[in-house]
Amino acid sequence: MREFLRAPFTVAALTPSGRPLSEAVTATVPRDGAPLVVELGPGTGAFTAAIQRRLTAGGRHLAVEINARFAERLAARYPRVDLAVADARGLRDILTQRGHDRADAIVSGLPWAAFAPDRQDDLLDAVTAGLATHGVFTTFAYAHTRWTPPARRLRRLLRARFAEVVPGRTVWANLPPAFVYYCRHPRPATAPTGPTNERVGRP
Ligand SMILES: C[S@@+](CC[C@H](N)C(=O)[O-])C[C@H]1O[C@@H](n2cnc3c(N)ncnc32)[C@H](O)[C@@H]1O
Repeated sequence: MREFLRAPFTVAALTPSGRPLSEAVTATVPRDGAPLVVELGPGTGAFTAAIQRRLTAGGRHLAVEINARFAERLAARYPRVDLAVADARGLRDILTQRGHDRADAIVSGLPWAAFAPDRQDDLLDAVTAGLATHGVFTTFAYAHTRWTPPARRLRRLLRARFAEVVPGRTVWANLPPAFVYYCRHPRPATAPTGPTNERVGRP
């Protein structure tokens, strides 16, 4: 609540996501091997805990949080998580600085509806630049905002950047109810995106 009052347009939620939504949004995190999982906007750590439950010893978990107070608490609570106190728009550089290539999974807790269009574009460009071609990106949206212009715009943006965008079932147990977008097959930044994407088309 305190951080929401300090920064309403980056925190954008009064309460953390609940466990059912956390499990739905992290369902794509591989349970074996040594995947690189990137979490954007971990906040108080609802999705962080769910990712940690899924990752085995070889898995790597990088979290990118812009809010220094959230980051400090998170670092103390999850010492196994590599925490970058940074803007997720710089994801490509953050990965390079750490010697990583691209992520196998990116999980987002970012509040898309609170962002201006330019910021949404930049963040999604950072996601596709940081995700392996076989990788999967998950993010959530609140069910009651599903048909609002910002939510529709986010859907168009996702479809412009991924060949597959599948909305999951509504998680009624979350407060407020929410659903997850499962996005696969990131399109290269220079690829033409087709006639339906003309308002959000990429160069
Ligand atoms: C709605 S909270 C979500 C927290 C948590 N994932 C959850 O669902 O409960 C959004 C989080 O994204 C962070 N955030 C917003 N813009 C960001 C950015 N550009 N880069 C990194 N983190 C950002 C905020 O500081 C906040 O912690």
